[in-house]
Amino acid sequence: MKPFRSSSSSLLSPMAAAVTVVAVSIILSATAVPPVAAATVEHTFVVSQVNMTHMCNEIPVTVVNGQLPGPTIEVTEGDTVIVHVVNKSPYNLTIHWHGVYQMRNCWNDGVPMVTQRPIRPNGNFTYQFDVAGQEGTLWWHAHDAFLRGTIYGALIIRPRNGAASYPFPKPHKEIPILIGEWWEKDLAAVDRNFSRGLYDEFSSGSTINGKLGDLFNCSGVFEDGYVLDVEPGKTYLLRIINAALFSEYFIKIAGHKFTVVAADSNYVTPYTTDVIVIAPGETMDALVVADAAPGRYYIAAQPIQAPPPDTQTPEFATRGTLQYTGGVTNSSRADVVAPEMPHQHDTIKSFYFHGNLTGLRHRQRARVPARADERLYVTLGLGSICRHGRKSCKRGDEPKSNQLIANMNNVSFHDATATPILEAHYYRRGGNGVVGTAGLPDHPPSAFNYTDPALIPFGPVEMRLEPTSRATVVRRFRHGDVVDIVFQSTAMLQSDSNPMHLHGHDMFVLAQGIGNYDAAKDEAKFNLVNPARKNTVLVPNLGWAAIRFVADNPGAWFMHCHFEFHLAMGMAAVFIVEDGPTPNTSLPPPPPGFMEGSP
Ligand code: C2O
Repeated sequence: MKPFRSSSSSLLSPMAAAVTVVAVSIILSATAVPPVAAATVEHTFVVSQVNMTHMCNEIPVTVVNGQLPGPTIEVTEGDTVIVHVVNKSPYNLTIHWHGVYQMRNCWNDGVPMVTQRPIRPNGNFTYQFDVAGQEGTLWWHAHDAFLRGTIYGALIIRPRNGAASYPFPKPHKEIPILIGEWWEKDLAAVDRNFSRGLYDEFSSGSTINGKLGDLFNCSGVFEDGYVLDVEPGKTYLLRIINAALFSEYFIKIAGHKFTVVAADSNYVTPYTTDVIVIAPGETMDALVVADAAPGRYYIAAQPIQAPPPDTQTPEFATRGTLQYTGGVTNSSRADVVAPEMPHQHDTIKSFYFHGNLTGLRHRQRARVPARADERLYVTLGLGSICRHGRKSCKRGDEPKSNQLIANMNNVSFHDATATPILEAHYYRRGGNGVVGTAGLPDHPPSAFNYTDPALIPFGPVEMRLEPTSRATVVRRFRHGDVVDIVFQSTAMLQSDSNPMHLHGHDMFVLAQGIGNYDAAKDEAKFNLVNPARKNTVLVPNLGWAAIRFVADNPGAWFMHCHFEFHLAMGMAAVFIVEDGPTPNTSLPPPPPGFMEGSP
């Protein structure tokens, strides 16, 4: 179901509505001293439109509590989080807690028409979940449509035993760095256009912690940039989140190196590099030592895009400043040292960066199972379907008689229309226990040279590989199944990478490669010793990534590309994990009041 939208602008909410309530109540615990007892952390998120002005343009922006990015939620492992969402915006929306396991708590995962009905304008919804067995950097974002472009924030989980239990030296300070985009558009309308195959919509800039920085100006007035103050010799932990809708980013700080210590809230073997590459949905924690000559240095974020013959889209670099206290704070921009950025087409750098991540000290759900029960090979790409349900149509004249879609194994996802999938599954409402309108095939319908660059331009080679269909795609797994998926990026109409995100589970990244996956030779490369664990796996441009996960969390979990245009165009499926044999392995009923207000 696509979000209903009221055309009324009278719902503009005053800044006064932007009130955060943070109440921390300590739950009684038998042990008094460290480790700290589990707490309940409570927030109120008022979603409303506020006017913001950048580059001489004042526009209404839909945000939480008047802030962009929204509030940071800071908790300790094992805490309970309660967030009351008050929707004062004109849009239907939900909030998703990206990377939170939500063990046996799928009702609180926040995906419209998958786990719940969207929160309507003037409606409320309270989310409640715990963060047991997880620590590191996660985030939250709207999951209805492109709205997540402005509705997002960090979710930071600290270890129960304090910073001393980090598997790296305790940093002097911890700093969230959120990469985003500045959209001068009605994002709900952008979403509708993409889901109808109209895709000519772009952001107007990129941001670090909501700030555009001095690469953007209007009438000679430079935009404010994010400033990180550092003391000489001290170590900082940057918690980097790519909340952008469209691009992977290179991140560099002139004169400084990063040591990556975690990704997607899982520790990794410390890896020192001068450039971080981060895809939408991913988080990277990195230590930075302030060991350069005191002065000012740019922190730069540069989007990546596939080279021609892919269609080139407007992309914007952004930068903030790292500045030493007690150093030269001359106001001239010319004194700031700039890093040399990789080329925007240097996609192979992203491949190597991601290949260098290996796991460290896995906490929960930690051991890599030796073999898989289920094996899927899933192609990711674009395609087209005939409009108005026609079986055949003239190709190449889109958007007239056919429309561009994105798909997994040639099926393009569309939302359930009447009942959210989790509800249909839980109450067996589908008729013969069938939920959704099609299964996700285990293989693409036909084998071809998936990464042949000849497929990128519209034409006969690509057309032969039609048709594509649209459906509410569901794949079932038994509780405890070990699932292997090889994701294959294709050259179908583009050669993008695909950051694939699975809700409710982390995935072990067993291997990745460029070109077509070949089980006979590539399975030997699987890392079953210390693979990185991710909730978002970057499937490289014209390459593949092999993952393994244990389907041990009963519910209906969205699996999708975290490029918002791919998601809006249908690169998604729902994984249903069935109940296990005991109450402890089964999904409890929805929380009281959950269905209230359901149509
Ligand atoms: Cu961060 Cu389903 O998304």
